[in-house]
Amino acid sequence: MSARPAGPGAGPGSDTSPGTGLGGEGEARAPGTVVQAGGPVVRAGGLTAPSMGEVVRIGTQRLLGEVIRLDGEVATIQVYEETSGLRVGDPVVQTGAPLRAWLGPGLLGATLDGLQRPLDALADAGTWALGPGLEAPPLDPTRRWHFVPVRGPGETVGPGDQLGTVAEHGLEHRILVPPGVGPGRLGPIDERDATLAEPVAALETATGTELLHLAHAWPVRVPRPARRLPAEAPLVTGIRVIDMLFPVARGGVAVIPGGFGTGKTVVEQSLARASDADVVVYVGCGERGNEMADLLASFRELVDPRTGAPLLHRTVLIANTSNMPVAAREASIELGITVAEYFRDQGYDVALLADSTSRWAEALREIGGRLEELPGEEGFPAYLASRLAAFYERAGQVTTAAGPARRGSITVVGAVSPPGGDFSEPVTQASLRLAGTFWALDTELAHARHFPAIGWLRSYSLYVERLGAWYREAVGEEWETLRTQALELLARERQLLDVVELVGVDALPPEDRVSLEAARLVREAFLQQHAYDPVDAARPLGVQLAMLRAVLAGHRAMLAALHRGASVDEATADPAVRELARIRSWPGEGIVERLEALAGRLGGAA
Ligand SMILES: Nc1ncnc2c1ncn2[C@@H]1O[C@H](COP(=O)(O)OP(=O)(O)OP(=O)(O)O)[C@@H](O)[C@H]1O
Ligand SMILES: [Mg+2]
Repeated sequence: MSARPAGPGAGPGSDTSPGTGLGGEGEARAPGTVVQAGGPVVRAGGLTAPSMGEVVRIGTQRLLGEVIRLDGEVATIQVYEETSGLRVGDPVVQTGAPLRAWLGPGLLGATLDGLQRPLDALADAGTWALGPGLEAPPLDPTRRWHFVPVRGPGETVGPGDQLGTVAEHGLEHRILVPPGVGPGRLGPIDERDATLAEPVAALETATGTELLHLAHAWPVRVPRPARRLPAEAPLVTGIRVIDMLFPVARGGVAVIPGGFGTGKTVVEQSLARASDADVVVYVGCGERGNEMADLLASFRELVDPRTGAPLLHRTVLIANTSNMPVAAREASIELGITVAEYFRDQGYDVALLADSTSRWAEALREIGGRLEELPGEEGFPAYLASRLAAFYERAGQVTTAAGPARRGSITVVGAVSPPGGDFSEPVTQASLRLAGTFWALDTELAHARHFPAIGWLRSYSLYVERLGAWYREAVGEEWETLRTQALELLARERQLLDVVELVGVDALPPEDRVSLEAARLVREAFLQQHAYDPVDAARPLGVQLAMLRAVLAGHRAMLAALHRGASVDEATADPAVRELARIRSWPGEGIVERLEALAGRLGGAA
């Protein structure tokens, strides 16, 4: 499998380019023929030394396919496009290359399908349907980018080293020596305007001269090489139940399962909007076409809260709707993570948001079914877990040669749609084993319109201990204590509610009734957070902590009132306690001071 950069004639825009991004260049080999057609999988004979993963073009429409099995002379090919027109005897042309992504300027703001075809250019705007065999370069071949070198002639550079920059929207798009190229000595390298097909530098290596371009191709199923670093900081999301209770590490994996309509997409979109990732790769997988069109439209309107620029400028959207052929859905996740690795290697923090991995797993199931493989649990192929693992294992924080911090990360957040909201099904279970953070969406909470409907009793984060030092430094010493207190109070509420169901609330001792009241405040004043609320949708960490501190001070204030002889009703009627119920609507300006003053009235610090 070649990781060579694109030669001058093989850039995305050149004559010999594949047109669709993931295919390889055509090679002059006698074509094979289709021997069995029907559905997303066809069989072909007469190919010349085909290899696993090789991309082929099938039939007169040159449909894109990939060899997924070899049995002697016969190759099994999954076809990424509608195959109804294919017939036995149709030609199958080998490309000699695996599925590849083209990585370079032009990715930010793009909307692509799983084969990196630009949907903006090709698709029907309403349905996102693509006709068969449609081709367009994945990255604009005509556009000229202003390249500013950061290295000079004669310098020695190796894989991953930064050659220069191209300004793309607000982001510094760092042009790197591709993995697998060099080391070598740089020849001429000048500030200039260049298209993706024009070389910007030459590298003298042990094996000859390599021309370096602004873009290069990478096989999507092969992780880009990286040296891993332990996680040390959270991906800050602005969402309280996440940042304060169940954080995900930068470079970590979060899985968010939830039944129909429980808020998976809203959480993913909130993360796209408000998380502190530099680049967001959003993979919309198997959603309905009109939903996807809505999503894309909303992304166009959304504004990056950090820069005021359109959110799309730091986002790459990869969309495979339910009306697109199933095999392309399978590729979309790998295209997404490859694009994420490319920005990670530039020294950026990337969030890869996949909604929904269940639709991806269903694509595996459908293709597996066509292969007449022995199905595993619920008809999913036996390799479901290993394929999911291969995807999630591409998350991580790594060292990079580029970027001021010399590190980059990919945080993966995968939504799962278990049928009937039943988490015991195979995709949820396999994902759970790979997740560092598990945000369990709760159907009852969603019905009660408690949003985000992340259930606090089933969710967990394995990163809490590791992130402790970061939180102590960034938000103060008390985070772990407050977090534990909040979770204990919520767990206690669960127990008490069971008791109440049997004997009624009046039978509880006053302290317990106050605990119930305090737990309600934690839920309603702290955990609930409406994604569309103009002030409360995302809050800085310092505000989140001050809110939690105030709510827990409310609990202590009520207990103190009881000890002074007040009744439960008197304790809960304290105006300062009542005020807690409204803190979510407080505007951001001066809110920390206001919360501290309120906590002070309630009896001070933790
Ligand atoms: N954080 C939130 N704040 C406010 N409303 C929310 C929030 N999360 C979900 N909702 C409400 O719930 C509805 C359904 O949410 P969403 O579409 O995200 O669910 P889903 O789990 O993705 O559903 P599906 O299973 O159909 O994909 C939203 O349209 C919105 O009204
Ligand atoms: Mg959804």
